[in-house]
Amino acid sequence: MNRLDQRQPHLVSLTLNGLRRTGRAEPRMLLSDFLRHELGATGTHVGCEHGVCGACTVRIDGVAARACLTLAVQVDGRRVDTVEGLAEPSGTLGDLQQAFRRHHALQCGFCTAGILMSCADFLERVSAPTEAQVRDMLSGHLCRCTGYTPIVAAILEVAALRQNTQHPQPRKTETETLDA
Ligand code: FES
Ligand code: FES
Repeated sequence: MNRLDQRQPHLVSLTLNGLRRTGRAEPRMLLSDFLRHELGATGTHVGCEHGVCGACTVRIDGVAARACLTLAVQVDGRRVDTVEGLAEPSGTLGDLQQAFRRHHALQCGFCTAGILMSCADFLERVSAPTEAQVRDMLSGHLCRCTGYTPIVAAILEVAALRQNTQHPQPRKTETETLDA
């Protein structure tokens, strides 16, 4: 590839939050810039741009990944999910987002989109995490505001709520209720 080819934009087609999208990207364009500037998906934040802060985290084929360490051309033909896809089509916030709001797990919110996307992947793989596992997952994210405690509480609450939904507690009989 000569220098001219390196600047030649390529068509990149992907499934973004369930919708087919196509944009143009130079071979060196970062996925974070492609999402924000080419596709208008500005929910993905950009902080350090070298893989440290986690603000740019998205899911690629379901796996959490740094959009600032991924080239846009690498996601051609793949599925990318960003924070914009967490809410219901009606606009109702997803369970993680609601828990973050309940627990005041964000202040400035700059880190939040990335943390939510890592959590979405994490909770699909680890359905009943310990606090230590949650904190280990969060070690890939920098938050200047919250001290992490409310973030951990929100994630553990969502894990417990999802567990209860999948394995509902047997309802007490009327006799058991009266005996209690
Ligand atoms: Fe990607 Fe900080 S902007 S890790
Ligand atoms: Fe401000 Fe995390 S809420 S950086």
